[in-house]
Amino acid sequence: MVGTAYHCAGADVLDGIHHAVSKSETVKQNSPDNTAKQLRGRNNAMTDLSTTYMGVKLANPIIVGACGLTSKAASIKALEDAGAGAIVTKSLFEEQVQVERFKFDEDLEKYNYRNAEMVEIFPNTTYEGPKEHLMWVREAKKSVKIPVFASLNAVNRDTWIEYAKLLEETGVDGLEVNLFSPPGDLQTRSDLIEKSQIELVTELKRTVSIPISVKLSSSYTNVLNLITLMDYTGVDAFVLFNKMFTPDIDLQKNALSSPISFSSETDIRMPLRYAALLEGAVRADICCSTGIMDGEQVLKMILAGATTVQVVSALYRHGVSHISTMLGSIEKWMEANSHATLADFRGKLSKQNVAELWAYTRTQYVKIMMNPDEIINNAPVI
Ligand SMILES: Cc1cc2nc3c(=O)[nH]c(=O)nc-3n(C[C@H](O)[C@H](O)[C@H](O)COP(=O)(O)O)c2cc1C
Repeated sequence: MVGTAYHCAGADVLDGIHHAVSKSETVKQNSPDNTAKQLRGRNNAMTDLSTTYMGVKLANPIIVGACGLTSKAASIKALEDAGAGAIVTKSLFEEQVQVERFKFDEDLEKYNYRNAEMVEIFPNTTYEGPKEHLMWVREAKKSVKIPVFASLNAVNRDTWIEYAKLLEETGVDGLEVNLFSPPGDLQTRSDLIEKSQIELVTELKRTVSIPISVKLSSSYTNVLNLITLMDYTGVDAFVLFNKMFTPDIDLQKNALSSPISFSSETDIRMPLRYAALLEGAVRADICCSTGIMDGEQVLKMILAGATTVQVVSALYRHGVSHISTMLGSIEKWMEANSHATLADFRGKLSKQNVAELWAYTRTQYVKIMMNPDEIINNAPVI
């Protein structure tokens, strides 16, 4: 079994039980031959980019996040060839599961509205149903030697549990629990949302034995506390953060639109800050996501305390081969700074390791706000 056997009741978690959970020492050797080959092929004598993520050995810290590129066998192979340390497959969504269920429901009338919505989102249901997804994830896992993590974004408890088990059976190395669920009503209490998410993660940890990562939004009142409570459940990693894809209004058509917006490089500051605050404070691994465009930004995340990063927008912008460029920049910087391994500098600039007492807190904000003239003087002239 990979990961920890530790579980605690979700309800108790909210009461703030503080268990000391020692992290599993088990390192899952994902195709050791291949990992070694990748390490030999990639790294020169000076630098070793290998790391572990949720107990799984990775040749380097760059994971390709869930997206269109990780939803096709050909592009997954290209990602492996470009040097990706691992991939997260495109999520299986609750809507795909529901479409399948509606298809078999004799009393479709009662679901008319919901069914229409589902069919609009997934017009090609024949190809995108959950069975096809599971089959495809199984194939994806077989087609590459790098670790493959599956991603699930359900809504109903039963779907979460059923499909977590089914995804585990595909042979993937771990499960990413994508908690993307922006609030849509004015009544649901925020503490109850958090409670149910902690209970869900607790139950998922009991359900599957592969490692579990939780991909979170940063939009909680105190995401640090939520992460701390989830950490007690024995979850293996936190992905900081989910990108908020929100609707826009198309003025030509006078209608809503759903644009995909890629990240920009300044987006790294939010995950960077939280990684730095969490490093050493949680037992789970920290994986930074959103806005990572080049090797230098990967280095910043590791200095803040991440063990791995996820990239998506950078690959849509610059192509899959950009992974290789990123790895080259990381190696170059490590050589220039005489670092042989990532562990040599991981967390060196986390909150607990910087001398500045108020680092990563309100101080930076106040400094910026108190010196607007200096900022305006240095700003590019528009
Ligand atoms: C085209 C596209 C498809 C995506 N699909 C998924 C998905 O299926 N599941 C998921 O959790 N995130 C999905 N994401 C979000 C990415 O995994 C990632 O969290 C986000 O793009 C931020 O990372 P980035 O700044 O490197 O792009 C998608 C992003 C894009 C651009």
